[in-house]
Amino acid sequence: MPPTDHPFASNATSAEVWLLTALGEQVDGGAVELPVMPEAAAQILDLVNDPAADAKKLATILQRDPSLAGHVLRVANSTAFAPREPIVSLQQAISRLGFNNLRQISTAVAVKSKVFNVRGFEDLLREIWFHSATAGAYAKEIARIRRHNVEGAFLCGLLHDVGKPIVLQSAVDLVAAKGERVERLVVEAAMDALHGRVGGLLVKKWKLPAFMVSVMLHHHDPSGAEEHVEDARIACLADQLAYWAKDGVPERAEELRRHPVVAALNLYAEDWQALVDARERVIQVAEAYA
Ligand SMILES: [Fe+2]
Ligand SMILES: [Fe+2]
Repeated sequence: MPPTDHPFASNATSAEVWLLTALGEQVDGGAVELPVMPEAAAQILDLVNDPAADAKKLATILQRDPSLAGHVLRVANSTAFAPREPIVSLQQAISRLGFNNLRQISTAVAVKSKVFNVRGFEDLLREIWFHSATAGAYAKEIARIRRHNVEGAFLCGLLHDVGKPIVLQSAVDLVAAKGERVERLVVEAAMDALHGRVGGLLVKKWKLPAFMVSVMLHHHDPSGAEEHVEDARIACLADQLAYWAKDGVPERAEELRRHPVVAALNLYAEDWQALVDARERVIQVAEAYA
């Protein structure tokens, strides 16, 4: 067998080689099936570019989608947002949480229900979603320290692995169509290898800003992100902190502190400490989105 650059090169079975090749061809040929952006989320994101956007407009969009509205209220009532009294109406939710929070919550809920939904991989996707929400919340913390676009950072963190469920779905469809038997681990390795590129394709299709496309592509190696390198670095560190935050082992935090992205972001000792200390708050936010 000729040498290849995929992860199963040395001891791959024919099914493994076949799956990665087929998926790679789909990505190269632009043939991956990409979900459409949920309409409510598209409208809500569009409000960013609308100087006349206000809470009333947001409420009107949410009201048209009762399941989305229900989720928004559930998140608004979670511990992370700690309402003193239960929030029962969208108007209340908007005035209590503010426009930006509501927009972030709505986007998260819409993306979760539309994209993070692959039959047979529910547990894995629940885990990836929690990781994504944690990364979103951490990206916000980092962006605040760096005085960078906080809302953009949140969405980048939240979406950084959005390619994963899409690669999974494509793999499931390919395997079913061919009647092959492929180990889960193989499917997951393909997902790891291709998710950045597929995430980039999706975010582009959804007409999200160029920096977000760049973050999808480069969150594992920000050096290629050129003019969007700061966004990619923030997402890269948020990704790493999200893995760390799962158990929050102090020694692991020390290791992570030596990651090149920490130096690249120019974080001082007190900045780093603030990020480590933010763990509990960040987890609470992620739980609100779970
Ligand atoms: Fe990733
Ligand atoms: Fe990640």
